[in-house]
Amino acid sequence: MATLTWNESFATGIAELDTEHKTMVAIFNDLHDSVESVNSRQRISRCLDRLTAQAIEHFAREERLFMATAYPRAVHHKKEHDEMKLWAAGFQKRLDEGMAEGMLLTALDSLKECIYEHMRTADAEFVPYLIAELAA
Ligand SMILES: [Fe+2]
Ligand SMILES: [Fe+2]
Repeated sequence: MATLTWNESFATGIAELDTEHKTMVAIFNDLHDSVESVNSRQRISRCLDRLTAQAIEHFAREERLFMATAYPRAVHHKKEHDEMKLWAAGFQKRLDEGMAEGMLLTALDSLKECIYEHMRTADAEFVPYLIAELAA
């Protein structure tokens, strides 16, 4: 399974958002490594906690920006954030219940696609609107 690779096509040009996206990519790769190389349940769980905490903080920042700029796609975008938070809670629960390694890898593949897709679509759609609003 491949790790997540940051590339400049993900850059939003907004420093705080880019820093947080890069941090989430780094934590995801740590999580990936903890599953594939170390396979320590304790470390996997700690990585997942860090990723969840970072995602919650990041999503809250984006959602404050939606409110501040009356972003018309806020409901749709927030729904994607909420789905990812729910997914993380479900993943933690399955991990606590002793999910098999093969399932862990499959679940991480889905998470990777979710993160890529969200940055490429919902976040990429929001940022030009935000930049225009901030400049107005
Ligand atoms: Fe984001
Ligand atoms: Fe987002």
